[in-house]
Amino acid sequence: MKQKLLFARAYEKEAAKLIPDEARPLFHLTPYTGWMNDPNGFSFYQGKFHLFYQYNPYDTVWDSMHWGHAVSADLLKWEYLPAALAPDKPYDDFGCFSGSAIELDDGKQLLLYTGVRKEGGEGENLDVQTQCVAIGDGLNYRKIAQNPVLDETDLPEGCERANFRDPKIWREADGSFRCIVGTCEKNGLGKLLLYRSADGIKWEFESILIENDGRLGLMWECPDLFELDGKAVLLVSPQDMLPKCFEYHNGNGNVCLIGTFDKENGHFLPESDHAVDYGIDFYAPTTLLAPDGRRIMIGWMQNWDTTKLTGRKDRRWFGQMTLPRELSIRNGRLYQQPIRELEQYRSGCVRFESRKIEGETRLDGVTGRTVDLELTIRPDHSTVMYHSFAIRFMQNEQFHTELSYRPYESLLRIDRKFSGSRRAYIHQRRCYVPPRNGEIKLRLILDRFSAEVFINDGEQVMTATVLTELSASDISFHVDGRVFMDVTKYDLFQE
Ligand code: FRU
Repeated sequence: MKQKLLFARAYEKEAAKLIPDEARPLFHLTPYTGWMNDPNGFSFYQGKFHLFYQYNPYDTVWDSMHWGHAVSADLLKWEYLPAALAPDKPYDDFGCFSGSAIELDDGKQLLLYTGVRKEGGEGENLDVQTQCVAIGDGLNYRKIAQNPVLDETDLPEGCERANFRDPKIWREADGSFRCIVGTCEKNGLGKLLLYRSADGIKWEFESILIENDGRLGLMWECPDLFELDGKAVLLVSPQDMLPKCFEYHNGNGNVCLIGTFDKENGHFLPESDHAVDYGIDFYAPTTLLAPDGRRIMIGWMQNWDTTKLTGRKDRRWFGQMTLPRELSIRNGRLYQQPIRELEQYRSGCVRFESRKIEGETRLDGVTGRTVDLELTIRPDHSTVMYHSFAIRFMQNEQFHTELSYRPYESLLRIDRKFSGSRRAYIHQRRCYVPPRNGEIKLRLILDRFSAEVFINDGEQVMTATVLTELSASDISFHVDGRVFMDVTKYDLFQE
């Protein structure tokens, strides 16, 4: 094994000992030590779920991309494995960027990732991005001699080798391989390229799957294409988005396109698009097909533009994954639910039915930082419609984070400005929720440093990281007007 990987493995093992379990979330994967971004190689292999991730073991900032590695039986309790890839070859010495995994006929696992090197003199320093393969047994992976397996000679004219990354691989029913890779033209507009292969190693260009018409950002990162409930679904993470009403926001975005996949011509034909997550921290989602047929998605629970402002010197990890989410298509939209395995980790049920709430209210037993909370809010039809409903959580005398809903506008807002942050990064985001006469259903999952809000049975989701000190764990309700509320609250635990 190459020196650089051995060194990283020895380093991370020691460094991780300095991170107490209580300093991490219970279920949301954090890096073994150091920095984490995109989920990579999300797969089910040899009886376990594998999740690799963009990883810099040496610091809590982006640098020197390795692939970190963790496994789980249920997607919630993760066990760290040693780093899988280090940037140690001439074609990837600037970084092993994002990619995916697939099982081969001989039982080995193939990782397809983007190898990045730098070229050009002082001041130029341009990326050369290529696709590379490493084959292994679920623990150790060997980069193959044929690398890179896709390079600039495989790009259609006009596409940039400096932006050619994030391959997502899958197998067709006949066993042959396909992958899609993101690239862009000189004008910066993204394209997705489709390649085919008989063995996962020798690839041929097939077609341009889809081109960004300029409506959805510029370069499209981390694509994923799959079938779900009779539709074709394409997930992309566009850079440099312009905002569009309450649907898309400035910066790095996340988009779900629903349509059909014309396999004959290798084209994705979109019919509609919407955001995957309407919160603050969500990027680069990727999916797997579980053995029981569920399509499960996980994303990086972070926003690129705040990474420099939210890293804390006293924390030895940076970056979290979202909860894995079960996907389905209903009424032409992507629905998301936290994976059902989470229910095994619930205890201490507290329930209130049709509880009348006016002004400020606290409910016995409704408190905590690792919580699964279901709420249904209904207006009191005997009086005027309430003006606003809010739930404050991660609360103490000084701090709180708030989720509030105004039925007149039908906007749901998450606001973390009183979470202890001392920097001017984004603290609020609003989501337009199709109105239901003042009724709204929320499932809020808190796991120490994050809040994920599943709205109206998962029709929309809002995700945000919240770094408030852990002693802030109160929950309170605030109504301008009067509502009736059903509450079911569980504590989440892990043995
Ligand atoms: C997305 C991304 C990918 C790239 C990786 C590098 O967050 O920019 O396009 O492969 O991160 O770490």
